[in-house]
Amino acid sequence: MTRIDALAHPVAVGLIGAGGIGAFHGESLAHRAPETRLVAIADPSQAAAARLAETTGCDSIYDDGASVLADDRVEAVLIAAPSQFHADLVVAASKAGKAVFCEKPMAVTLDDAHRAVGAAADVPLQIGFNRRFDAGFRAAHDQVVGGRIGTPQLLRSLTRDPGIPDPAAVRHSTIFLETLIHDFDALRYLNPGAEAVDVYAVADALAYPDFADQGLQDTAVVMIRFDNGAIATAEASFHATYGYDIRGEAFGPGGMVTAGDQRRTTATYFGPEGVVNDSWQRNVDLFHDAYVAQLRAFAHCVRDGSTPEVSGRDAVAALSIALAAVRSAGEGRPVRIDEVTR
Ligand SMILES: NC(=O)c1ccc[n+]([C@@H]2O[C@H](COP(=O)([O-])OP(=O)(O)OC[C@H]3O[C@@H](n4cnc5c(N)ncnc54)[C@H](O)[C@@H]3O)[C@@H](O)[C@H]2O)c1
Repeated sequence: MTRIDALAHPVAVGLIGAGGIGAFHGESLAHRAPETRLVAIADPSQAAAARLAETTGCDSIYDDGASVLADDRVEAVLIAAPSQFHADLVVAASKAGKAVFCEKPMAVTLDDAHRAVGAAADVPLQIGFNRRFDAGFRAAHDQVVGGRIGTPQLLRSLTRDPGIPDPAAVRHSTIFLETLIHDFDALRYLNPGAEAVDVYAVADALAYPDFADQGLQDTAVVMIRFDNGAIATAEASFHATYGYDIRGEAFGPGGMVTAGDQRRTTATYFGPEGVVNDSWQRNVDLFHDAYVAQLRAFAHCVRDGSTPEVSGRDAVAALSIALAAVRSAGEGRPVRIDEVTR
């Protein structure tokens, strides 16, 4: 089969979780990705499901994922429920024979991650590491693969989020398991074939210090050593006043590649207050095209049987780094990856 097939026969997708990112994905499935159709929505919040059904024209709404899996029209599911439900949903969807696109993190424990990967052995499984579908990150990756910088020696990845509405609602370790997990994957993407060996992480509540006593971590730096010798840092803040800021960098003996741009467009204002660029305030604006491109790529895999570019193995590797970082920040010492994986 060729890539034409997903366009000629769009993949029927059931969405599980219609909250912040789920609603954006639902709109993409219905309106932005011609290779997909949104045929069902499940969310225990029937208001959320109904809102999305209205804007997408989807006529089947359910209050749980099991109903989507029992719907014979559904060929693939997109899991955008809260992270603690992901692994069980991947297992159930795989058992039902559905292709699976799962938001990151695919699981929050390694036992669950391995269980999910095992269950999905015979169905396409793609993880929502959307940075891999951003044109800049992809070009940087391709240049590393093409040998332009040589073997990476230094790597960087950072996430700065404009803010969190309710610091009290942020669970401990979120900065590692939900946010920096993107950076851990980006570092692996910019250092292809290499795996993390050890991790040293420091985290604090610097942006919202009033919540430090409750264990909030809103600022973190993670140092990672890879098995090809590269030394990497990943950093995150939940309070960037200037907007969403995601960047990556790989440096080697032959030069350096960078990816990511805070500017909303190339338009730059020059005036009495200085030189000014507008920035994005929402991830779905900054990575709009990448979020859609990953769903289109997934649909092509479902139709032509090719292997998704972001696999369950990638999910396990990024989660291993995240769990090592959680332990390192908690214990104040470097942690070897094999301490969390064995
Ligand atoms: N790739 C990215 O850039 C990105 C961005 C945001 C969120 N995410 C991930 O997507 C997931 C959802 O995040 P969000 O920000 O949309 O959260 P959210 O809280 O805004 O939405 C979650 C939705 O899931 C629903 N829900 C709860 N339990 C459910 C269940 N068992 N089955 C189905 N639906 C259920 C809730 O009612 C809610 O509508 C998280 O895992 C998060 O890490 C990824």
